[in-house]
Amino acid sequence: MSDQTRAPLLDALEWMRRERLVPFDVPGHKRGKGNPQLTEFLGESCLSVDVNSMKPLDNLCHPVGVIREAEELTAEAFGAAHAFFMVGGTTSAVQAMILASVKSGDEIILPRNVHQSVINALVLCGAVPVYLNPQTDSQLGIALGMSVEDVRQTIAQHPGAKAILVNNPTYYGICSDLRRITQLAHQGGLRVLVDEAHGTHFYFGRDMPVSAMAAGADMAAVSMHKSGGSLTQSSLLLCGERVNAHYVLQIINLTQTTSGSYLLLSSLDISRRNLALRGEEIFDKVQRFARYARDEINAIGDYYAYSKELINGDSVFDFDTTKLSVNTLRLGLAGIEVYDLLRDEYGIQIEFGDLGNILAYISVGDKNKNIERLISALGEIRRLYKRDNRDMLASEYISPTVMRSPQAAFYAEKESLPLAECEGRICSEFVMCYPPGIPVLAPGELITTEIVSYIQYAKEKGCVLTGPENMEIRRLNVLKGE
Ligand SMILES: Cc1ncc(COP(=O)(O)O)c(C=O)c1O
Repeated sequence: MSDQTRAPLLDALEWMRRERLVPFDVPGHKRGKGNPQLTEFLGESCLSVDVNSMKPLDNLCHPVGVIREAEELTAEAFGAAHAFFMVGGTTSAVQAMILASVKSGDEIILPRNVHQSVINALVLCGAVPVYLNPQTDSQLGIALGMSVEDVRQTIAQHPGAKAILVNNPTYYGICSDLRRITQLAHQGGLRVLVDEAHGTHFYFGRDMPVSAMAAGADMAAVSMHKSGGSLTQSSLLLCGERVNAHYVLQIINLTQTTSGSYLLLSSLDISRRNLALRGEEIFDKVQRFARYARDEINAIGDYYAYSKELINGDSVFDFDTTKLSVNTLRLGLAGIEVYDLLRDEYGIQIEFGDLGNILAYISVGDKNKNIERLISALGEIRRLYKRDNRDMLASEYISPTVMRSPQAAFYAEKESLPLAECEGRICSEFVMCYPPGIPVLAPGELITTEIVSYIQYAKEKGCVLTGPENMEIRRLNVLKGE
């Protein structure tokens, strides 16, 4: 292993700061001098390294110097053959791995409970999704992982499919049998892509579910900015041995900015070093916090903070115990209602609330006293707001009926109709609750009575719905004349 105490990009930026180069290049704020209010808000030290590419700082679009060195150190730390620093969020990493693996008309096998970035990529490249409907836990109302038998059958039914995408772990912490799925896919000649937005810590913590690279997957999109501690929007795309990294870079450059932010890039370099040197210790602490919070929340009553007891050897092959996912339905409150109460009444912002669950993100940045505050707020919410739970809608996942490919439907001639009149029509846009950003409807899917009721219920409960052209989600675009 090369020297993981190094941070080449950080060193280069510190050198540049010391050199006091006179800037006659962009950005026009010229190290913050031209925009005092911004400098006061963000700090001089931040603005002084918000610079553009130059030879000593390398170029993200064609890395041959310090960015490349930093990417090589990252690849080594993650056990990958190649790592790309990404500045367009994990969305850009997900899209690049799909665009590098399938083309127009190619089939790609995937679960339907993916993040919108996955289906967006299919709109862009014209590949055709073969959805594997995930099994669901009816008590929790959440989609589970991919069953190995379903994967085997789908590969046999679609011998021409080019790739399979696995969402591992899900937002809620559910992991699939990634090793077995990778073996099966490789035997069938498919490339294995993993959306590992919620699994950065798998590479560094002890007793973690297997990571994509350790399982032999070909590519993985990894949100360093989530559990890895880097700045929002910075992310990684990891590649295995069998992938042509030069071609992947060409694909990345189809949509990537030519002005990659050095704030984001240096945060990736510094975070990788931190995780490589202290990851075990960091994630031991996170797991300890999460375990304690889970036990205390379960002791309150009515809440269910789930964990490894869900493991069933297949569609829940493993569970990520750093995730503090809590079901709220027995309380008579939707997850989104508890989410809103926590913020509005108790000053606590959690990661998300959906119809039946909340997720509180636990990280190295947490303190004992904040965990205690969360636990006691949940206790008080139960005492003050618990109500009859008879009419609670639990299901977070509705199996879609796919009528057109996402690309064909997105670009088709369309008309706008009031939501209530959309039943039986084919949708040409996305509808999702954000977060978690898993589409309720994607372009090309049939709009059913169940989906319309779900959207209306989610709106009533206060979910933030996104996707449609009509921002209030009173109308939807549907395919014209069909
Ligand atoms: C599973 C999954 N994939 C991809 C993304 C996209 O990540 P980003 O917001 O960094 O673009 C998210 C975001 O939450 C996600 O949950």
